[in-house]
Amino acid sequence: MMNRKLLKEVKKSFKKHFKTKPLVVFSPGRINLIGEHTDYNEGFVFPAAINKGIALAIQKSDSDKCQVYAIDKEKMHEFSLQDIKPLNEGGWENYVLGVVAEIQKLGITLENFNISFAGNIPGGAGMSSSAALENSVVFGLNEIFNLGLSKSQMILISQKAEHNFAGVKCGIMDQYASMFGKKRSALLLDCRTVESETYKIDFKKYKLLLINTNVKHDLSESAYNDRREVCENVSKKLNVLALRDASKEMLQEIKKDISEEDYQKSLYVIEENERVKLFSKAIQEDNIDALGELLYQSHQGLSTQYKVSCKELDFLVDRTKENPNILGARMMGGGFGGCTINLIEKSATTQFKRDISKEFEKEFGRACSIYKVKLSKGTHVVS
Ligand code: GLA
Repeated sequence: MMNRKLLKEVKKSFKKHFKTKPLVVFSPGRINLIGEHTDYNEGFVFPAAINKGIALAIQKSDSDKCQVYAIDKEKMHEFSLQDIKPLNEGGWENYVLGVVAEIQKLGITLENFNISFAGNIPGGAGMSSSAALENSVVFGLNEIFNLGLSKSQMILISQKAEHNFAGVKCGIMDQYASMFGKKRSALLLDCRTVESETYKIDFKKYKLLLINTNVKHDLSESAYNDRREVCENVSKKLNVLALRDASKEMLQEIKKDISEEDYQKSLYVIEENERVKLFSKAIQEDNIDALGELLYQSHQGLSTQYKVSCKELDFLVDRTKENPNILGARMMGGGFGGCTINLIEKSATTQFKRDISKEFEKEFGRACSIYKVKLSKGTHVVS
């Protein structure tokens, strides 16, 4: 759905349910060019906000409860600010509640409010619909209650909501990209200082294309947290703050003290962090061929060393290798499903879409989805 339609829909829904005029906020999802699972290792990532996201209408309420309406699910959730805790079976509710709880933990007293929201990021696609929702909620609350929070404070609130209410010990990449994104640009983010450099993105005759496997394998959350734990344990053994500070040589020295799996996972992180730096250099030098190669290397590492890919993602990436019009491809985001990101020659897109759709369907008996995205600005007030 187009963003204009989305915005109209949330305004209409808000009016219908709450009868007042809302503030409307748009918060985007993100892609990531390269740098996967490096953010919680305090390393580098290279994400960009996109033109798909969450539109949220919000306003203060006179009633004695808060009400949040999820348009896509046709579901209203009511809660009291005096009793915020995660729901057992909660999905989207927990992102909203988590943000409220984290704001309250800062000693800020909120008053009652109402929300209607809808999104056009496909769920489970690894495009951070959850970060977009968290950011839209904290941004909206900050506006209507004049909380005086900075964007940097807001993304930490969103991240903690994810940790404490959704149970995923995520890094800061998604929330940062969604909040700080810039038009036609990607952000080279240092996840230690949480500061970024803006890179204008123009791949000349190439463009980015996302292919969604439309699968999200179970246990991806616990697998994510397990990976993070491995990285933290190996960092301790190496006596460094995070794997960002480690080199391959240092890792080699403790190889005998850790399992082969943990060694490979740590090696992946060290190499991927290096690839992000090479990627940004290649962009500066307009060396587009080098970008493709780095994407393939990243996928190889994610699949065989970090072990967060799946057969559908591997299939999509493998297929591009036979196609001279595609410079590189890799899985994107946390893994175990979701999308691949592909660097493809513009004129070859139509044919490739047709071919890959057919091949995917033949292999897995169901369809993949294909999206083009525009790199866009971060969370903002619409009206
Ligand atoms: C998820 C997390 C991010 C990041 C990626 C992998 O999207 O939310 O913090 O770790 O996975 O790069």
